[in-house]
Amino acid sequence: MLDREIERYVQAHTTPEESLLTELDRQTHLRVISPRMISGRVQGKTLEMLSRMIRPRYILEIGTFTGYSALCLAKGLSPDGKLHTFEVDDELEDLAAAFFKKSGCGHLIKQHIGSALEKAPELGLVFDLVFIDGDKREYTDYYRMLLDRGLVRSGSYILADNVLWYGKILDDVARNDRHTQNILAFNRMVQEDPRVENVILPLRDGMMLIRVL
Ligand SMILES: C[S@@+](CC[C@H](N)C(=O)[O-])C[C@H]1O[C@@H](n2cnc3c(N)ncnc32)[C@H](O)[C@@H]1O
Repeated sequence: MLDREIERYVQAHTTPEESLLTELDRQTHLRVISPRMISGRVQGKTLEMLSRMIRPRYILEIGTFTGYSALCLAKGLSPDGKLHTFEVDDELEDLAAAFFKKSGCGHLIKQHIGSALEKAPELGLVFDLVFIDGDKREYTDYYRMLLDRGLVRSGSYILADNVLWYGKILDDVARNDRHTQNILAFNRMVQEDPRVENVILPLRDGMMLIRVL
């Protein structure tokens, strides 16, 4: 969404990522289809900072991919905390697991293979921080699961990535474009929900910050 020069300036004025994350980014580009899905340096640092501010005990992540955002979010966990991250694609499991292990905070991260929609409620946990970064066609389902099934409490934060969806939220939406349709429905649902307050950060592809009242 940002002008390329501005993006370069933002990169140049953001703390460099640690070498493990650079290596994970490289391996993701070498070994995985759609490497662009990785959070990357600026968003990763933002996630880390937000997590450090919140100091969550339990974090839920929907969409592990190769583990970049999980590693960033885990940095803010309280000492007795745990991050539960869900991924439907089992082919990504080993790559993410190897980097969690190398990071030294692998013991704080619990990987789950399967849909967060089915499995997250089974954990019986209430999360202080949730990062929604799964299938864009399911964002409204994730939100309903979190709010209606008691996976968050008053004071919990939810971060949702890609809510500007490459600017497509402003275009006429094709009838078969379920990704854009669901992002639009999600943004509207959050905006109209009296149980939360929210703001969209125009960071990268747009990140919605939501606080449960
Ligand atoms: C944009 S990527 C996640 C990127 C990752 N958070 C990062 O920053 O590196 C989205 C991932 O969500 C996964 N996914 C899609 N639907 C899911 C679901 N219902 N539960 C868990 N993961 C899901 C996809 O397989 C894909 O790997």
